[in-house]
Amino acid sequence: GSMVLAYSGGLDTSCILVWLKEKGYDVIAYLANIGQKEDFQEPGAKKVFIEDVSREFVEFIWLAIRSSTLYEDRYLLGTSLARPCIACKQVEVAQREGAKYVYHGTTGKGNDQVRFELTCYSLGRNDLMEYSKQRGIPIPATPKNPWSMDENLMHISYEAGILENPKNQAPPGLYTKTQDPAKAPNIPDILEIEFRKGVPMKVTNVKDSATLQTTLELFMYLNKVEGKHGVGIVIVENRFIGMKSRVIYGAPAGTILYRADLDTKAFTVDREAHKIKQSLGSKFTELVYTGCCPECESVRRCIAKSQERVEGKVQVSVLKGQVYILGRESPLSLYNEELVSRNPIDATGFININSLRLKEYHCLQSKVTAK
Ligand code: ARG
Ligand code: SIN
Repeated sequence: GSMVLAYSGGLDTSCILVWLKEKGYDVIAYLANIGQKEDFQEPGAKKVFIEDVSREFVEFIWLAIRSSTLYEDRYLLGTSLARPCIACKQVEVAQREGAKYVYHGTTGKGNDQVRFELTCYSLGRNDLMEYSKQRGIPIPATPKNPWSMDENLMHISYEAGILENPKNQAPPGLYTKTQDPAKAPNIPDILEIEFRKGVPMKVTNVKDSATLQTTLELFMYLNKVEGKHGVGIVIVENRFIGMKSRVIYGAPAGTILYRADLDTKAFTVDREAHKIKQSLGSKFTELVYTGCCPECESVRRCIAKSQERVEGKVQVSVLKGQVYILGRESPLSLYNEELVSRNPIDATGFININSLRLKEYHCLQSKVTAK
């Protein structure tokens, strides 16, 4: 029968394609263009579909920015967000082409296997699918680049090969999406980023007054500017199945938007409402990482609701791998200058009541130590 293979052009999927053909399948190669820089080679399949999913993917990215997802305090989830997007289109291609099977070539023990398969199970009928588990195939490591990469609009990740030893530093020439901060320009770029309902709508570069408004182009522009100034993160993370892995990430546009969005939230969202949103956000982060769906939906809706007020403009400076917030303005700001500077408020009662507990604690504590 026909089989739609999610093909990346890497060593793994190239081998798998040949192997599937040998097994007698009509292989339809499906390449997702998700914003990676790549020359798509003719893979030698019966049919080849290159599907551009970048616009769909940007919507996933906005969701992540709005939710401030940051896995284990550092990882912006570039790969995690991309997998369901790639798998959705794969199932679509399979249905369109009447293919009975879908196939992915991710390495065993990884997160991607779990994500691909969970997405497919949630979309397709089980009897339509057969998931072949690919185990023990080494992560592609060519002599030129002795590590494995995963690139999309949101980020590029580097892992495996020589990077597996967490003591090994990133070798020169590793970063392709971000400049080495030491070699980045000495003059900052000043950007103004405008948010509406927690989604970036407009970016203006103050220096050359370039303005970007369409979402995909806006994100690509930020990747270019931030990348030039060098934004990259070194990380060890815990995979879904429990093992630790060492991955280096570069996520230029995601990093600046994460920071600018946080700043806008701080001025427009009520303190207690924000705390609830934060706890939902960390749940959401976990769900995105692990690829779980039904519970995602309700969490996503709650977060969207809490972000309705996140509107405004943030001015940001980028220099040598760093993002500096310069100022902000918002029509929905809860910040009241009048209250801050001119209005004397008597806080005595507030302090007295709050000190009650502390006085009592101190009193009892001195009895305990006296014993
Ligand atoms: N560990 C990260 C994640 O689970 C990145 C994985 C990159 N994927 C890859 N096949 N190299 O999201
Ligand atoms: C893989 O290639 O599947 C391993 C990386 C991961 O998914 O964490």
